[in-house]
Amino acid sequence: MEEALAAPAATTGGRGPRGQYAGDGGARALSEVELGEEPRHATGMRELDRVLGGGLVPGGVVLLGGDPGIGKSTLLLQTMARLAQQGGALYVTGEESLRQVAMRASRLGLETDGLHVAAETCVETILALAEREQPRVLVVDSIQTIFTEQLQSAPGAVAQVRESAALLVRHAKRSGTALFLVGHVTKDGQLAGPRVLEHMVDTVLYFESEGGSRFRLLRAVKNRFGAANELGVFAMDDGGLREVRNPSAIFLSRHEEAVSGSVVMVTREGSRPLLVELQSLVAETPLSNPRRVAVGMDQNRLSMLLAVLHRHGGVFTADQDVYINVVGGVRVSETASDLPALLAALSSLRDRAVPQHTVVFGEIGLAGEIRPVPNGEERLREAAKHGFKRAIVPKKNAPRGSGEFEGMEIVPVSRLGDAIEAAFG
Ligand code: TYD
Ligand code: MG
Repeated sequence: MEEALAAPAATTGGRGPRGQYAGDGGARALSEVELGEEPRHATGMRELDRVLGGGLVPGGVVLLGGDPGIGKSTLLLQTMARLAQQGGALYVTGEESLRQVAMRASRLGLETDGLHVAAETCVETILALAEREQPRVLVVDSIQTIFTEQLQSAPGAVAQVRESAALLVRHAKRSGTALFLVGHVTKDGQLAGPRVLEHMVDTVLYFESEGGSRFRLLRAVKNRFGAANELGVFAMDDGGLREVRNPSAIFLSRHEEAVSGSVVMVTREGSRPLLVELQSLVAETPLSNPRRVAVGMDQNRLSMLLAVLHRHGGVFTADQDVYINVVGGVRVSETASDLPALLAALSSLRDRAVPQHTVVFGEIGLAGEIRPVPNGEERLREAAKHGFKRAIVPKKNAPRGSGEFEGMEIVPVSRLGDAIEAAFG
């Protein structure tokens, strides 16, 4: 019989109870699809849960990337020890012996009842183990050490990493197991590591630190189940990783007095406001092509802002090198840093400090106008909470009514010139 001619089988119809799952062959009105929250299980590490978008999703696959030695294994061991208290946690290590893992757990003082571990690098063996154990959460540390028998190449080769990961991801989706894959990144980020996996997983987290500091930033760069750009903060000490619940405090260097080139802004990383300091150094250049170096913010944007400063602020910087750094390894990817960045540069150029206890945020348009940014009040509240006394903000972000907000003087500005006047008066 010609298969193409077979009569269509009876279906449950577009409105049946199976309606919302993929693969039933039917189409329906989007408005009729039940919303229902994704079920989540909290890991018990609030900073991790925040970055995940509220906890682990069954069948969700998370790639945790970062430099070797940054603390990926430590973070996941601590997390799995907590999850294991509710059962169903399997930690597979391809890098360490079981004894090393046990020693680390004991040094960290972890409660490990119920946490199952295996030292294994063959993905087929790992899958058989997972089928048998049916864990709710599975960690594979690291994907670079895993190989599939189907390929000849050595573990770590691109094809091995991709194939092994694909098999693990398929298992997670089919069984509803939440899966963490650990991936090392090298300095150039090019290794057959996280980069080739990013499109295969639901969530990509990077674990980073700034120049040897004990603080660790956990950043979501992709998340199908939550906001990207969400930031979690930890500190590494003898007891392992500790959550930092109030990160604003650690990103501000407390200067004894106001210093030139420094401006504090309130940025919004994912769902919470964060106070960070922008520092700038502006110095006469011997080069015909002056340097514009931005660390932690977009370099092209900096060049654009300097052009606006020239045109609408009357400040010429074409004979100056301009450096901007966001302190603490934070990366600001929103336009609210426009005004603080320009004021920091101007402060360095003129060697005049912006008065202490001043906070600034706002976008700058090409016409020299200061544009509002989202969540103005929330940002102001964070600044007030940390003892700031004065805020230079876009007029449309100023709370209605008085020029005061939670004990802070609010200076609304609508043009670049006003902002410069307000900062250096
Ligand atoms: P690790 O989790 O092994 O890093 P990764 O898996 O990303 O390669 O972290 C190892 C580093 O962390 C190591 O240099 C020592 C440090 N560390 C501490 O400072 N305190 C601790 O309690 C632990 C377990 C590790
Ligand atoms: Mg490790």
